[in-house]
Amino acid sequence: MKRIGFVQTNPEFGMVERNVRRAIELASNVEADLLVFPELFNTGYLFLSREEVRKLAEGTDGLTVRKMSEFSAEHSTAVIAGFAERDGDKVYNSAVAIDESGDVRGIYRKTHLFFEEKLLFDPGDTGFKIFELAGMRVGIMICFDWIFPESARTLALSGAQVIAHPSCLVMPYAPKVDPVRAFENRVFIVLADRSGVEERGGKRLRYYGMSLIADPKMNLLVQAPEEGEQVGVAEIDPSLADDKRINELNDIFSDRRPGLYARIC
Ligand code: ACM
Repeated sequence: MKRIGFVQTNPEFGMVERNVRRAIELASNVEADLLVFPELFNTGYLFLSREEVRKLAEGTDGLTVRKMSEFSAEHSTAVIAGFAERDGDKVYNSAVAIDESGDVRGIYRKTHLFFEEKLLFDPGDTGFKIFELAGMRVGIMICFDWIFPESARTLALSGAQVIAHPSCLVMPYAPKVDPVRAFENRVFIVLADRSGVEERGGKRLRYYGMSLIADPKMNLLVQAPEEGEQVGVAEIDPSLADDKRINELNDIFSDRRPGLYARIC
Protein backbone atom coordinates (compact mmCIF):
# COMPACT_ATOMS: atom_id res chain seq x y z
CA MET A 1 0.00 0.00 0.00
CA LYS A 2 1.13 3.57 -0.70
CA ARG A 3 0.13 6.93 0.65
CA ILE A 4 -0.44 9.57 -2.03
CA GLY A 5 -1.66 13.12 -1.57
CA PHE A 6 -2.10 16.72 -2.65
CA VAL A 7 -0.98 19.97 -1.06
CA GLN A 8 -3.53 22.69 -1.87
CA THR A 9 -1.86 26.08 -1.41
CA ASN A 10 -2.70 29.75 -1.91
CA PRO A 11 0.54 31.31 -3.21
CA GLU A 12 1.28 35.04 -3.22
CA PHE A 13 2.31 36.22 -6.66
CA GLY A 14 6.07 36.59 -7.09
CA MET A 15 6.94 35.56 -3.52
CA VAL A 16 8.84 32.41 -4.50
CA GLU A 17 10.71 31.85 -1.24
CA ARG A 18 7.58 32.45 0.83
CA ASN A 19 5.46 30.17 -1.34
CA VAL A 20 7.95 27.29 -1.33
CA ARG A 21 8.46 27.62 2.45
CA ARG A 22 4.70 27.62 3.10
CA ALA A 23 4.09 24.60 0.85
CA ILE A 24 6.84 22.63 2.59
CA GLU A 25 5.46 23.68 6.00
CA LEU A 26 2.05 22.25 5.05
CA ALA A 27 3.57 19.08 3.58
CA SER A 28 5.72 18.45 6.63
CA ASN A 29 2.60 17.69 8.68
CA VAL A 30 1.77 14.46 6.84
CA GLU A 31 3.36 11.14 6.03
CA ALA A 32 3.18 10.25 2.37
CA ASP A 33 5.02 8.32 -0.34
CA LEU A 34 4.07 10.87 -3.01
CA LEU A 35 2.81 14.45 -2.72
CA VAL A 36 1.58 16.62 -5.60
CA PHE A 37 1.78 20.44 -5.46
CA PRO A 38 -0.19 22.88 -7.69
CA GLU A 39 0.74 24.33 -11.09
CA LEU A 40 3.17 27.29 -10.66
CA PHE A 41 2.92 26.83 -6.89
CA ASN A 42 6.18 28.73 -6.40
CA THR A 43 5.44 31.90 -8.40
CA GLY A 44 1.66 32.26 -8.57
CA TYR A 45 -0.22 32.07 -11.89
CA LEU A 46 -1.27 35.55 -13.04
CA PHE A 47 1.75 36.67 -15.06
CA LEU A 48 1.29 39.85 -17.07
CA SER A 49 4.15 39.44 -19.56
CA ARG A 50 6.65 36.95 -20.87
CA GLU A 51 9.36 39.18 -19.40
CA GLU A 52 7.81 38.66 -15.97
CA VAL A 53 7.84 34.89 -16.52
CA ARG A 54 11.50 35.03 -17.56
CA LYS A 55 12.42 36.89 -14.37
CA LEU A 56 10.79 34.36 -12.05
CA ALA A 57 11.46 31.19 -14.04
CA GLU A 58 14.17 28.81 -12.82
CA GLY A 59 16.14 25.81 -13.99
CA THR A 60 16.28 22.55 -12.07
CA ASP A 61 19.29 24.05 -10.24
CA GLY A 62 17.13 26.91 -8.88
CA LEU A 63 15.82 27.49 -5.38
CA THR A 64 12.46 25.81 -5.93
CA VAL A 65 13.70 22.43 -7.14
CA ARG A 66 16.57 22.50 -4.62
CA LYS A 67 14.22 23.08 -1.69
CA MET A 68 11.72 20.49 -2.90
CA SER A 69 14.54 17.93 -3.33
CA GLU A 70 15.70 18.62 0.23
CA PHE A 71 12.14 18.11 1.44
CA SER A 72 11.87 14.82 -0.50
CA ALA A 73 15.12 13.44 0.88
CA GLU A 74 14.35 14.48 4.48
CA HIS A 75 10.84 13.00 4.47
CA SER A 76 11.38 10.09 2.01
CA THR A 77 8.48 11.53 0.01
CA ALA A 78 8.44 11.74 -3.78
CA VAL A 79 7.25 15.09 -5.10
CA ILE A 80 5.60 16.45 -8.21
CA ALA A 81 5.42 20.23 -8.27
CA GLY A 82 4.50 22.80 -10.91
CA PHE A 83 6.99 25.61 -11.55
CA ALA A 84 7.95 28.19 -14.17
CA GLU A 85 10.95 26.69 -15.95
CA ARG A 86 13.61 28.59 -17.90
CA ASP A 87 15.73 26.72 -20.43
CA GLY A 88 17.88 29.10 -22.52
CA ASP A 89 15.52 31.52 -24.27
CA LYS A 90 12.50 29.32 -23.64
CA VAL A 91 10.11 29.36 -20.72
CA TYR A 92 7.78 26.50 -19.90
CA ASN A 93 4.87 25.85 -17.58
CA SER A 94 6.45 22.71 -16.13
CA ALA A 95 6.31 20.18 -13.33
CA VAL A 96 9.31 18.50 -11.79
CA ALA A 97 9.32 14.86 -10.68
CA ILE A 98 11.55 14.19 -7.67
CA ASP A 99 11.94 10.71 -6.22
CA GLU A 100 11.82 9.78 -2.55
CA SER A 101 15.62 10.11 -2.26
CA GLY A 102 15.50 13.71 -3.46
CA ASP A 103 16.81 12.96 -6.96
CA VAL A 104 15.25 14.83 -9.86
CA ARG A 105 13.85 12.19 -12.24
CA GLY A 106 12.73 14.64 -14.92
CA ILE A 107 10.43 17.39 -16.08
CA TYR A 108 7.07 17.48 -17.81
CA ARG A 109 6.29 20.64 -19.81
CA LYS A 110 2.59 21.52 -20.20
CA THR A 111 1.32 20.34 -23.56
CA HIS A 112 -1.92 22.32 -23.90
CA LEU A 113 -1.50 25.97 -22.92
CA PHE A 114 -4.63 27.77 -21.69
CA PHE A 115 -5.71 31.24 -22.95
CA GLU A 116 -3.01 33.89 -22.31
CA GLU A 117 -0.49 31.21 -21.32
CA LYS A 118 -0.09 31.01 -25.11
CA LEU A 119 1.45 34.51 -25.01
CA LEU A 120 3.57 33.82 -21.94
CA PHE A 121 5.05 30.32 -22.26
CA ASP A 122 6.51 28.11 -24.96
CA PRO A 123 4.42 25.03 -25.73
CA GLY A 124 5.66 21.94 -23.91
CA ASP A 125 7.91 19.64 -25.92
CA THR A 126 8.45 16.70 -23.53
CA GLY A 127 5.32 14.74 -24.35
CA PHE A 128 3.60 12.68 -21.66
CA LYS A 129 6.11 10.73 -19.62
CA ILE A 130 6.08 8.12 -16.88
CA PHE A 131 8.28 8.47 -13.80
CA GLU A 132 9.11 5.66 -11.34
CA LEU A 133 8.50 7.29 -7.97
CA ALA A 134 8.28 5.57 -4.57
CA GLY A 135 7.52 2.24 -6.24
CA MET A 136 4.72 3.65 -8.43
CA ARG A 137 4.50 4.51 -12.12
CA VAL A 138 3.42 8.15 -12.15
CA GLY A 139 2.43 10.34 -15.10
CA ILE A 140 1.81 14.09 -15.12
CA MET A 141 -0.69 16.36 -16.83
CA ILE A 142 -0.92 20.07 -15.96
CA CYS A 143 -4.26 21.84 -15.50
CA PHE A 144 -5.87 22.50 -18.95
CA ASP A 145 -4.39 19.23 -20.24
CA TRP A 146 -7.44 17.68 -18.53
CA ILE A 147 -9.85 18.88 -21.22
CA PHE A 148 -8.11 16.69 -23.78
CA PRO A 149 -8.94 13.06 -22.92
CA GLU A 150 -5.88 12.13 -24.97
CA SER A 151 -3.64 13.38 -22.13
CA ALA A 152 -4.83 10.93 -19.49
CA ARG A 153 -5.30 8.18 -22.09
CA THR A 154 -1.73 8.53 -23.36
CA LEU A 155 -0.41 8.38 -19.81
CA ALA A 156 -2.55 5.37 -18.93
CA LEU A 157 -1.56 3.51 -22.13
CA SER A 158 2.07 4.30 -21.24
CA GLY A 159 1.59 2.45 -17.94
CA ALA A 160 0.71 5.17 -15.42
CA GLN A 161 -0.82 3.85 -12.21
CA VAL A 162 -1.17 7.35 -10.79
CA ILE A 163 -1.73 10.57 -12.75
CA ALA A 164 -0.58 13.70 -10.94
CA HIS A 165 -2.54 16.79 -11.99
CA PRO A 166 -1.00 20.06 -10.73
CA SER A 167 -3.47 22.85 -11.50
CA CYS A 168 -4.59 26.47 -11.16
CA LEU A 169 -8.24 25.92 -12.04
CA VAL A 170 -10.07 29.03 -13.26
CA MET A 171 -13.09 26.96 -14.34
CA PRO A 172 -14.97 24.58 -12.02
CA TYR A 173 -15.05 21.51 -14.28
CA ALA A 174 -11.90 19.46 -13.61
CA PRO A 175 -12.99 18.29 -10.12
CA LYS A 176 -16.00 16.72 -11.86
CA VAL A 177 -14.08 15.38 -14.86
CA ASP A 178 -11.00 13.93 -13.14
CA PRO A 179 -12.91 11.06 -11.43
CA VAL A 180 -14.29 10.15 -14.88
CA ARG A 181 -10.78 10.23 -16.40
CA ALA A 182 -9.70 7.95 -13.52
CA PHE A 183 -12.58 5.58 -14.25
CA GLU A 184 -12.23 5.43 -18.04
CA ASN A 185 -8.49 4.75 -17.71
CA ARG A 186 -8.62 2.70 -14.51
CA VAL A 187 -5.96 4.79 -12.77
CA PHE A 188 -5.65 6.93 -9.65
CA ILE A 189 -5.66 10.71 -10.16
CA VAL A 190 -4.33 13.30 -7.72
CA LEU A 191 -5.63 16.77 -8.56
CA ALA A 192 -3.55 19.39 -6.70
CA ASP A 193 -5.23 22.74 -7.24
CA ARG A 194 -4.56 26.14 -5.67
CA SER A 195 -7.14 28.32 -3.95
CA GLY A 196 -7.62 32.07 -3.51
CA VAL A 197 -7.79 35.09 -5.80
CA GLU A 198 -5.11 36.95 -7.75
CA GLU A 199 -5.57 40.58 -8.83
CA ARG A 200 -2.86 42.23 -10.92
CA GLY A 201 -2.72 44.76 -13.77
CA GLY A 202 -6.49 45.16 -13.88
CA LYS A 203 -7.03 41.39 -14.12
CA ARG A 204 -8.62 39.15 -11.55
CA LEU A 205 -8.61 35.36 -11.33
CA ARG A 206 -10.35 33.18 -8.79
CA TYR A 207 -9.14 29.61 -8.28
CA TYR A 208 -11.45 26.74 -7.47
CA GLY A 209 -9.48 24.60 -5.00
CA MET A 210 -11.35 21.30 -4.56
CA SER A 211 -8.17 19.23 -4.90
CA LEU A 212 -8.96 15.53 -4.83
CA ILE A 213 -7.82 11.96 -5.09
CA ALA A 214 -9.94 9.68 -7.30
CA ASP A 215 -9.59 5.91 -7.59
CA PRO A 216 -10.04 3.67 -10.67
CA LYS A 217 -13.70 3.12 -9.77
CA MET A 218 -14.46 6.88 -9.71
CA ASN A 219 -14.59 7.04 -5.91
CA LEU A 220 -13.41 10.27 -4.31
CA LEU A 221 -10.99 9.17 -1.60
CA VAL A 222 -10.48 12.68 -0.24
CA GLN A 223 -11.39 16.20 -1.38
CA ALA A 224 -10.42 19.69 -0.22
CA PRO A 225 -12.89 22.60 -0.04
CA GLU A 226 -12.79 25.50 -2.53
CA GLU A 227 -11.14 27.86 -0.08
CA GLY A 228 -7.98 27.67 1.93
CA GLU A 229 -4.90 25.54 2.20
CA GLN A 230 -5.21 21.83 2.81
CA VAL A 231 -3.27 18.61 2.57
CA GLY A 232 -5.15 15.44 1.64
CA VAL A 233 -3.67 11.94 1.72
CA ALA A 234 -5.17 8.54 0.86
CA GLU A 235 -3.82 5.04 1.17
CA ILE A 236 -4.00 3.17 -2.13
CA ASP A 237 -2.95 -0.07 -3.75
CA PRO A 238 -1.38 1.14 -7.02
CA SER A 239 -1.54 -2.38 -8.54
CA LEU A 240 -5.34 -1.96 -8.83
CA ALA A 241 -4.55 0.35 -11.75
CA ASP A 242 -2.85 -2.51 -13.60
CA ASP A 243 -6.14 -4.40 -13.93
CA LYS A 244 -8.11 -3.01 -16.87
CA ARG A 245 -10.78 -5.74 -16.82
CA ILE A 246 -14.34 -4.80 -15.92
CA ASN A 247 -15.72 -8.36 -16.21
CA GLU A 248 -14.54 -11.76 -17.53
CA LEU A 249 -15.06 -10.66 -21.14
CA ASN A 250 -14.14 -6.96 -21.18
CA ASP A 251 -10.75 -5.36 -20.74
CA ILE A 252 -10.98 -1.65 -21.47
CA PHE A 253 -7.50 -1.54 -22.98
CA SER A 254 -7.41 -4.74 -25.03
CA ASP A 255 -11.02 -4.13 -26.20
CA ARG A 256 -10.00 -0.83 -27.81
CA ARG A 257 -10.34 -0.67 -31.63
CA PRO A 258 -7.59 1.79 -32.64
CA GLY A 259 -8.03 0.85 -36.30
CA LEU A 260 -11.43 2.54 -36.13
CA TYR A 261 -10.16 5.63 -34.31
CA ALA A 262 -8.05 7.08 -37.14
CA ARG A 263 -9.71 10.51 -36.86
CA ILE A 264 -8.18 10.96 -33.40
CA CYS A 265 -4.74 11.30 -34.92
C1 ACM B 1 -5.11 26.42 -16.53
O1 ACM B 1 -4.76 25.61 -17.40
N1 ACM B 1 -4.30 26.79 -15.57
C2 ACM B 1 -6.46 26.97 -16.54
